[in-house]
Amino acid sequence: MLVTIEKVIPGGIGLARTEEHGALFVPYSLPGMEVEVKIVRPGKNFSWAQIVKVTKEAPGQVPAPCPFFGQCGGCAIQNASYEKQLEIKREIVADALRRVGKLEIEPLAPLPSPLSLGYRNKVDFSFKGKEIGFRPRESFDETLKIENCLLFDERHEKVLAGIRKLLGSKELQDEAKPDFLQYLTIRKSFADDNFLVILVTQAGEINRTAWLKAVQESFGESLAGFLWKRNLSKQEKKNEQDLIILSGQDYLHEKIGDLDFKVSAFSFFQTNSLGAKVLYDQVQEFADLKGTETVLDLYCGTGTIGQYLAAKAKEVIGIEINAQAIEDARENAALNNLKNCTYYAGAVKDVTLEHRDELAETEVIIIDPPRAGLDKKMRQRLCKFPNLKKLIYVSCDPVTLARDLMILQTYSFEIVKVQPVDMFPHTAHIENVTLLVKSG
Ligand SMILES: C[S@@+](CC[C@H](N)C(=O)[O-])C[C@H]1O[C@@H](n2cnc3c(N)ncnc32)[C@H](O)[C@@H]1O
Repeated sequence: MLVTIEKVIPGGIGLARTEEHGALFVPYSLPGMEVEVKIVRPGKNFSWAQIVKVTKEAPGQVPAPCPFFGQCGGCAIQNASYEKQLEIKREIVADALRRVGKLEIEPLAPLPSPLSLGYRNKVDFSFKGKEIGFRPRESFDETLKIENCLLFDERHEKVLAGIRKLLGSKELQDEAKPDFLQYLTIRKSFADDNFLVILVTQAGEINRTAWLKAVQESFGESLAGFLWKRNLSKQEKKNEQDLIILSGQDYLHEKIGDLDFKVSAFSFFQTNSLGAKVLYDQVQEFADLKGTETVLDLYCGTGTIGQYLAAKAKEVIGIEINAQAIEDARENAALNNLKNCTYYAGAVKDVTLEHRDELAETEVIIIDPPRAGLDKKMRQRLCKFPNLKKLIYVSCDPVTLARDLMILQTYSFEIVKVQPVDMFPHTAHIENVTLLVKSG
C-alpha cells in the first residue's frame, strides 16, 4: 500500500491516513515522505505499519548518520536535517496545544541545542546474557549490539569493546549467570571532561579486578569513578553493602554557566549539559527577576534552575522528592556561595502544604515535573499562593503540558509564551518553557 506521511506525532512516529485502514502509525517516516508500507499490527482505531520502500523522499530528508537507525529505539527522526527536526518538533508542540489543550497559542520556533551530536552526558546500556547494547524499539528484553552511540562521547566505544572482551573470557564469576548483569550507566562531565561508570547487577560477585581493568584501560585518566551497585533485598542489605566504589569517587562535577554542580551517581541532571544553559537562560528571561522576589523551585532535582536564578532573587526555596538530590542541592548552594537558597526533601504536594505559611510570599514559581506532569492536587495548589505573579512551567512532554495548561487557564492563569528548547537532537523529544501569569 502506498501512503503519504502527514505529520510526525509525539514519540516520533509518522502518521498517514488511509480510507481503508484509517490512521496508520509508521515509525521512521517523515512528513511529506511517500512510502510503500505493510501493516504489521492492525487495530480498530489505528494500525501500525512498516516501511517497505521509500518511493519519494520527504523535504529535508538526509541519510541517517548512524548505521543502527531504524533498529535502535533511540533516534526517531535522525533521517531529517537538523533544521527539519526543529520544524517537526515545533509542529509536535503546536499540535499538542491545539488538539489536547484546545489552546490557540502557537509555540515559538525551537531554540537549537549547542551540539547536535555527542551532546548527551548520560547513556544507559542494558545486558542480555553476555551481550551489552541498547534495547531495540519495542523490545524489553532484547539487546542491540551497537559499537557506539553518536549522541554520546566517542570514548565509550572502547569501554563497550573492553566489556565484550571480558564477557567473552573465562575471567567471570556470577557474570555468567542469566540476568545477573542488569545495566551499565556512563555519565560524563563536560566541564571536567571525565566519566563516572555505574554497573548494576543482582546480588552476587563479579570479577572486580577484571572489570576495573576493562573500564580503567578505556577511560584512563578521564575516569572519575567506577561504582558497582547490587540490587539487594532488604534482608541481604543487612549483611552486604549495595553500593561499592571500585575506583575513584561516586559523583561528578558539572558546570552550567558560571555555576558549579555536584552530580551524584543516581541524581537527576539535565541530560544535555550545554543545552541546560540554553534552557535555564530562557527560564531566567521569563522570570525577569528584580531581586525582591521569593522564588519557589518545584521538582528542583539538585537545585540547578533555582540556583541559576538565585543571584537575582531575594530567596529561592527548592522542593524535591529524592533526598540525595536535596543533599546535593544544599552542597551546590554552598559550592556556589549562595546564602539565599533553602531546600526541603519530600513530595511537592506535601511540602507545599506543610510549609504554606513560609511560602505565602512566593511571587514566582518554577515547575519542572517528570513526564507525567502535574497531578490534580498540585494544579489546584498553584492557585492558592496569595502573592503569586508568574508561573514558569518547564516540561519534557508536550502532551501532559498541553493538558496542564488547559486546566491552569481555567484557574486564572494566562498563557503568555511557549518556548520549545531542543535538548534531544535526533529524537522526537522536546523540552518547553512556558510563561504563565496570574490574571485574577
Ligand atoms: C525533570 S526533573 C527536574 C530536575 C531539575 N529541575 C533540573 O533541571 O535538573 C524532575 C524531578 O522531579 C522529582 N520528582 C518526581 N516526583 C516528585 C514529587 N512528587 N515531588 C517532588 N519531586 C518529585 C524527580 O526526582 C526529579 O528530580
